[in-house]
Amino acid sequence: MDFWELVLISLGAVVSVYFGVKLILFSWILFPTVWFPLPKSFFTSMGEWAVVTGASEGIGKAYAFALAAQGMNVVIISRTKANLDKVAKEIGDTTGRRAKVVVADFTKEDVFDQIEDELKEMNIGVLVNNVGMIMNAIPCKFLECSNLDQTLNKLINCNVKTLAKMCKITLPGMVNRGRGAIINISSGVASARVPLYTLYAASKVFVDRFSQALQAEYKEKGIIIQAVAPFSVSTRMTFYQPTGTLVLAPDEFVNSSLQYLRSGDKTYGSITHTLVGWILQTIPERIFFSECMQNNLQNYVKETLPGSDQTQTIQ
Ligand SMILES: NC(=O)c1ccc[n+]([C@@H]2O[C@H](COP(=O)([O-])OP(=O)(O)OC[C@H]3O[C@@H](n4cnc5c(N)ncnc54)[C@H](OP(=O)(O)O)[C@@H]3O)[C@@H](O)[C@H]2O)c1
Repeated sequence: MDFWELVLISLGAVVSVYFGVKLILFSWILFPTVWFPLPKSFFTSMGEWAVVTGASEGIGKAYAFALAAQGMNVVIISRTKANLDKVAKEIGDTTGRRAKVVVADFTKEDVFDQIEDELKEMNIGVLVNNVGMIMNAIPCKFLECSNLDQTLNKLINCNVKTLAKMCKITLPGMVNRGRGAIINISSGVASARVPLYTLYAASKVFVDRFSQALQAEYKEKGIIIQAVAPFSVSTRMTFYQPTGTLVLAPDEFVNSSLQYLRSGDKTYGSITHTLVGWILQTIPERIFFSECMQNNLQNYVKETLPGSDQTQTIQ
């Protein structure tokens, strides 16, 4: 065998291994129930109760329903009691499970003693840290965000501090029982480095890193901790965009993402969002960072999202 023959064979072997690994990874994404099967009793075996923040609508409500449908009782937390009561009744009527309502505003500093009190003595098997807010309805440059000082504090409290505090409240019980699952809702923008969502995207990078490090710390204790990073789901936050291949309905996204629960410390939660994530990572940063791209993104949101022309009021 001469030198060039050896080089070509080695090159062929490297390429085959590279694409072989890619193929295996892709089959994980396509067939999660084959690679990461969850027994029927999986969620109830984690514990009696699931806690979901931001659960009166959107993705949080879909998690509350999905976990109740799996046989768990649910604690649902958000700001508007009337909406929570309605969701609790619907959960009771459709699944026969109990739903406990807790009213709290996660943009505030001082809600966690009350929440800890409400959750005391509960056997909590699953925590879904779902609540999150964006700074402005229309993505904008940092200094152009309305009420910047106030909004900044609220966003950090809601998207960052709440997640860590809720883990602090629920994790000790899971550690004692040697089982549990914590699902932290991140966002696709955490990996795509999108300007104009600066603070929001950075808060979601926190969600990713916190989840991955926490999983490394508590995996040995039998606890699953995972960041779930959707791109577009049709909810109030995204002005109820019409659903399709890329924009998923909340229940569609949640049912899909739960199938990936045992796939590792981060998932995009669905086939299409995984593909979007992979594609975005191949686009050079300088394209995302260009002024032209930023203007186009802003115009796209203004034109395509019904209602986005009203600046989101942050209460
Ligand atoms: N939708 C998407 O395309 C998308 C994409 C990527 C990531 N995400 C993430 O997914 C999560 C859920 O988003 P979503 O689209 O489902 O949002 P949503 O439809 O706007 O629902 C938000 C939920 O959180 C509650 N909530 C909002 N602010 C709150 C606060 N300060 N304190 C307590 N509860 C509060 C709301 O009820 P009240 O208003 O009654 O409090 C509601 O139940 C967020 O973390 C978001 O960042 C969403």
